[in-house]
Amino acid sequence: MSQTHVMGKIDQSIGKLVLSNAKKYNALPQSAWLSIRPAIENLVAEGARAIVISGAGSHFCAGADISEFDTVRKNAATAHIYEASNVEAFAAVRECPVPTIARIQGYCLGGGFGLAAACDMRIAEHEASFAVPAAKLGLGYPVEAMADIVAALGAQNAKRLMFTAARFSAQEMRSMGFLMKLVSASDLDSHVDALTQTIGQLAPLTHTATKAAVRAINSGDWETAKAASDATFSSADYAEGRAAFREKRTPEFKGS
Ligand code: COA
Repeated sequence: MSQTHVMGKIDQSIGKLVLSNAKKYNALPQSAWLSIRPAIENLVAEGARAIVISGAGSHFCAGADISEFDTVRKNAATAHIYEASNVEAFAAVRECPVPTIARIQGYCLGGGFGLAAACDMRIAEHEASFAVPAAKLGLGYPVEAMADIVAALGAQNAKRLMFTAARFSAQEMRSMGFLMKLVSASDLDSHVDALTQTIGQLAPLTHTATKAAVRAINSGDWETAKAASDATFSSADYAEGRAAFREKRTPEFKGS
């Protein structure tokens, strides 16, 4: 596991997952992709009400570490193994039971873009820069990751992103719907903090049910979505929400 490239910590009930490989704009080796699921699961187990994914320093992530590709992604057989680790990281983010937010500054490229696409929401600073240059390298992008990108951008813009391998500005990504919010670099943390505080004070089981319901639209997994919704109705939090409404006070949710 790559403890040094993916670091998780809890800060006031908000999980912070930081991608870190400073000399390569936080490009991640295979070991780091493999460490994302356990890191997210740890944050959830420690009580994170939301998880913010960011890059150390002034960039989000320059994608997969290409310097490994001659060994770990040199042909279709090794690519299957490599991409399983990549895809597993995206799935961990997509399936995470608590809301996930990509906090994006600087480069957001390749697998970094895929990671952001797997998040529930994306907030970036004005100078952030986006691309998936798979067609420059000559490799196929994992289909599961493509599903996230299409869901976030729409099919036409997903194809534009891939066919051109071009660099897109944060403004262009905002207009394509990939970014929920665009702010100055100095305001990035305060916007992310305000959003996660709001999310963190509301009912966690409702958030889980919302995520499962939205995911079901693409995955067709209605059973999980219905079970997540059913779980809210027998929760102490639902009783607390109704009591708080009656008593005209702010509810205190426990996630159970
Ligand atoms: N994998 C491996 N190394 C990477 C990397 C990646 N994805 N992205 C950047 N680096 C390394 C560079 O090789 C370079 O290493 P070096 O100093 O040992 O030569 C270092 O990071 C700095 O990058 P450099 O290209 O010199 O900086 P730049 O400011 O001119 O360009 C990028 C920065 C990110 C635009 C450019 O490095 C780039 O295009 N990277 C590849 C991005 C990519 O294709 N990602 C998808 C991977 S599937």
